[in-house]
Amino acid sequence: MTLATVAPRASLDGVSLDALTARLGTPLYVYSASAIRERIRSLQAALHGMDALICFAVKANSNRGVLGFMHEHGVGADIVSAGELWRALQAGIPAERIVFSGVGKSASEMDEALAAGILRFNVESHDELLTLQRVARARGTVARAAVRINPDVDALTHAKISTGKAENKFGVSIDEARRWFASRHELSHVQLDGLHVHIGSQVLSLGPFREALQRVAAFWRELVAQGHPIHSIDAGGGLGVCYREGHDQPVDAADYIAIVREALAGFEGRLLLEPGRYLVGEAGVLLTRVIRTKHGDQRNFLVLDAAMNDLARPALYDAWHDIVPVAENTHPMTTYDIVGPVCETGDTFARNRALPTCAPGDLLMIRTAGAYGASMASTYNSRPLAAEVMVDAGRYAVVRQRQRFEDMVAGEQPAKHWETA
Ligand code: LLP
Repeated sequence: MTLATVAPRASLDGVSLDALTARLGTPLYVYSASAIRERIRSLQAALHGMDALICFAVKANSNRGVLGFMHEHGVGADIVSAGELWRALQAGIPAERIVFSGVGKSASEMDEALAAGILRFNVESHDELLTLQRVARARGTVARAAVRINPDVDALTHAKISTGKAENKFGVSIDEARRWFASRHELSHVQLDGLHVHIGSQVLSLGPFREALQRVAAFWRELVAQGHPIHSIDAGGGLGVCYREGHDQPVDAADYIAIVREALAGFEGRLLLEPGRYLVGEAGVLLTRVIRTKHGDQRNFLVLDAAMNDLARPALYDAWHDIVPVAENTHPMTTYDIVGPVCETGDTFARNRALPTCAPGDLLMIRTAGAYGASMASTYNSRPLAAEVMVDAGRYAVVRQRQRFEDMVAGEQPAKHWETA
């Protein structure tokens, strides 16, 4: 069920969007607490009876308010950097609910994560495994680790967010992982007892998940038969959401978990999941006002006060986001190129999009912006980061103040003190 069917456009969780933007300005990210809660609950319900932990992929929305909300609902974190570790810990997420993924963990990041006592590392290369062994030994501790398997499965998603093919930089082949386990006893400071797989993001069909999990499950059975205990299997993230109403058909969480249960039948260890987009994507919208309309020789442009620096997905992946007026608008339809003020042709949210004719000042909603929206924002063109707000049961809480110019340039300074390195 998409947001459109649960919430009228003019308000979200009982908060008037017009009143909210009158107070807080635009562009403005708004996250519906009830929608996030509903997603967490649907996943938790599907996992009923299993020893499972949901670790929210922090990269999808790293706002501390959102992370704190995850923590309140028993959700841990999947991190990919020391910065994300810091955010997760600051938000109150206990280290024992944090897993660390990514191909480029540095030795110092590993050390910080070990010091914090995180649950486990998802290891993606042999060099990383040896580095983890060295760092853990120096610290006098044992790192818990899982091998990230690259199952060579096509996730049937956008090439830039597909991660499970052999040609991708992520994970290692089952053949290589087999060699790691065979020499597992040489690792005095790494406890290699887990498997991890993540084939890509915005996956809209169950087939690729099934295929990847079946490969991992066959490998887990092989390892156990050889006497290697496997204490956790991390099925990654990737569940897609609806960006285009009437077009995208996300898989149901319960059906997805049924596939996991089926593939891992008999597994008695802990199941980890790393959803990002599924938990927050549809819960978030980006509110923006029309600055002006422009009638070019060939096209009508709708120029918004939001731009590619606020929401990079359309510019980066040609991603579709539904865009709708917030107030009822019964004007005849016009076909627009919907653009931002940034000085790049790529700063386009939509091309040839039909909307009821808009006028300067109209409030629009860019939908499904809760994941990889604010977390990928920049200040390009010296546009301060947008404010972010959570809404719940008729009230709102600002979780990020609109950035001031002073904050935007914090740390920059004139080249006055010249030193030699
Ligand atoms: N686990 C790992 C190891 C990941 O690399 C990712 C996402 C996730 C979990 C969460 O995936 P999700 O459940 O959100 O699909 N910026 C892109 C998406 C990049 C995803 C990167 N990895 C976008 O805007 O579509």
